[in-house]
Amino acid sequence: MSTPSSVTVRAPGKVNLQLSVGGAREDGFHELVSVFHAVELYDDVTVTPGEPGAGVTVEVSGAVTGSGVGQVPTDKSNIVVKAITLLAAEYAIEADVHVSISKGIPVAGGMAGGSADAAAALLAADHLWDLGLGREGLCRFAAMVGSDVPFILFGATALGTGRGEVITPVLTRGKYSWVFAMSDRGLSTPAVYGAFDRLNAGRPVPHPEASPTLMKALRSGSSVDLGLALRNDLQPAAISLRPNLERLLELGRECGALGSMVSGSGPTCAFLVEDEDSALDLVAALSGSGECSRVVRASSPAPGARIIGSPE
Ligand code: C5P
Repeated sequence: MSTPSSVTVRAPGKVNLQLSVGGAREDGFHELVSVFHAVELYDDVTVTPGEPGAGVTVEVSGAVTGSGVGQVPTDKSNIVVKAITLLAAEYAIEADVHVSISKGIPVAGGMAGGSADAAAALLAADHLWDLGLGREGLCRFAAMVGSDVPFILFGATALGTGRGEVITPVLTRGKYSWVFAMSDRGLSTPAVYGAFDRLNAGRPVPHPEASPTLMKALRSGSSVDLGLALRNDLQPAAISLRPNLERLLELGRECGALGSMVSGSGPTCAFLVEDEDSALDLVAALSGSGECSRVVRASSPAPGARIIGSPE
């Protein structure tokens, strides 16, 4: 098989329909039960062979204006460099590639934008280097790169346990409509987990369990039931760092959202709505509120990372 000259992979962002956080473990991570749900906001990642000895180079652009691309590092601290270097080291390949990232997922927004880039880079490199690992084989590497990366390979809806990296698919019905209110200043995930620990200091943190109410709502495909079942234990922690998120969530509820919550570690707020008309009304209300920098609509569930461009 000839080597493709470049590979482009499209990877989705996610919301956590349930994010139940347990106590901190000895390795510093928290035990989680997360119901991951991929949404139709995407990053496109193109991996192209580079000059011998060039190493991994990174370039970032915005698929939409105001997507926060300026906050994404292009040096070796970018998560895609870690992902590609790890895979290359395992197979004794010289990692001389250029990675071009087009961002549609908010940066540092609690929607796994960095994890999406890492998952996409792994799938692209697997194809470029003809390793034949596929999603299952890449999962081990994905888990080493970040807790949310394995889920992004598979997309749709899945239960994440451990620190979020152990993935079990969840069968769901129906399609859902969402509105996302983004902030132009991201929140650091470790800082939000740190705030969670401070808020819960001295209290017993229960062992996280999957919510039967949420699972039932997902089996029924009812947006109303899903809206009532949304739950994010990191929300108070994110609000303690960004108090204005509380007003944004309240505004969403007042405007008829079926459910509203901080997405993952925030600061993006996710609003589940009945249909596209309700989504448009909510976009208008939130855009005019002055509480967020950008508001977008997206439907769900979305497929996992997939190749969308390869010359061969
Ligand atoms: O795995 P990932 O690199 O996405 O995690 C980023 C940070 O989020 C970790 O360094 C840790 O501070 C926090 N985290 C956590 N427990 C988890 C997942 C992430 O404390 N289960």
